[in-house]
Amino acid sequence: MKALILSGGKGTRLRPLTYSGAKQLVPVANRPILFYCIDNIVQAGIRDIGIIISPETGEEIREAVGDGKRWNAKITYIRQDAPAGLAHAVKTAAPFLRKSPFVMYLGDNLIGRDIRKFVEDFSKKKSDALILLKEVDNPKQFGVAEVSGRGNIIRLVEKPDDPPSNLALVGVYIFSPKIHSAIDRISPSKRGELEITDAIQELVFMGKRVRSFVLDSWWLDTGKKDDLLTANAIVLDEWGKKDITGTVDKSSRVLGRVTVAKTSLVKGSTVRGPVVIGEHTIIENSFIGPHTSIGDNVRVINSSIEHSVVMNGSEVLNIDRLEESLIGRRVRIVKNSRHGALRLMLGDDSVMEV
Ligand code: DAU
Repeated sequence: MKALILSGGKGTRLRPLTYSGAKQLVPVANRPILFYCIDNIVQAGIRDIGIIISPETGEEIREAVGDGKRWNAKITYIRQDAPAGLAHAVKTAAPFLRKSPFVMYLGDNLIGRDIRKFVEDFSKKKSDALILLKEVDNPKQFGVAEVSGRGNIIRLVEKPDDPPSNLALVGVYIFSPKIHSAIDRISPSKRGELEITDAIQELVFMGKRVRSFVLDSWWLDTGKKDDLLTANAIVLDEWGKKDITGTVDKSSRVLGRVTVAKTSLVKGSTVRGPVVIGEHTIIENSFIGPHTSIGDNVRVINSSIEHSVVMNGSEVLNIDRLEESLIGRRVRIVKNSRHGALRLMLGDDSVMEV
């Protein structure tokens, strides 16, 4: 069994964060989302992994992931020249996949459980596709499945105007090599993409064995701001640890599961977990509240932050209350009491709620 992670695409929904970087590298609890995908694949015993990259963000992904030694896995990078769809990505990866069955994992999807059971079931039952489904409130934004009372797939539709159910396709699939002939038989959708949803539907038409499971854990498609904050909170809640290797001075209070990296300093502050604080960061005279991730080289001074993500190289100075915020890299948020007015320099597509 091989694995194919899709880490190309444009990431338009996470702008402005994704103007300067790949959406799969946006951090959740200070680790790129993509790393959780690799963890999950490796935990299922798969070590031959292809990663689809785009010409725009491919280099950055290569640099972050490297050759896979960190996971004891072999990584092959596969360049897809344009984001022409998930099935197009599989087509592009055909020389890597050859005749092997494979797990396909969307690099911006996070799920709260391991996939081993699904991989085993797929092999045991000799299936041609295994898909995971999850009930959602907004099915129009996903691939949607219509399933019979006995769990058989009746129909699959991508981003339907009139969804036949609220069961969305999760971005983790397992395929036999028959998926390649199904992809050869489909044409681009209304939005001009070769859809994997259409290819799976084609497998059903071809009379092949498509199995589905309703996922019994949380699932997040981190492509949107609120999902990213939710993902951060859930991952900190479930996987956060108490691990303080940095310096916490006597006047500070650290409560609950808080990680402070070795080169960081917490001074005159209260940190209430679950929280992670990266390397070379200073927290001074501040409150860091639950569900917050603070990256590397960050300065938080005379401020209070809760339920937020502050990425590498940013500064938060004299801010009374910062909540539910997603702060990109090298951002400066400063309240200067001498000026009544706001003085801003915000990039394209920034959002500011005052
Ligand atoms: O998240 C689950 C959903 O993912 C499914 O319910 C849908 O059926 C499926 O089509 C997909 O929808 P999205 O609109 O969320 O896909 P997105 O364009 O965000 O791409 C998903 C990942 O695949 C993302 O990491 C980028 C990468 N990608 C995307 C395209 C279109 C590629 O590597 N190449 C591509 O051509």
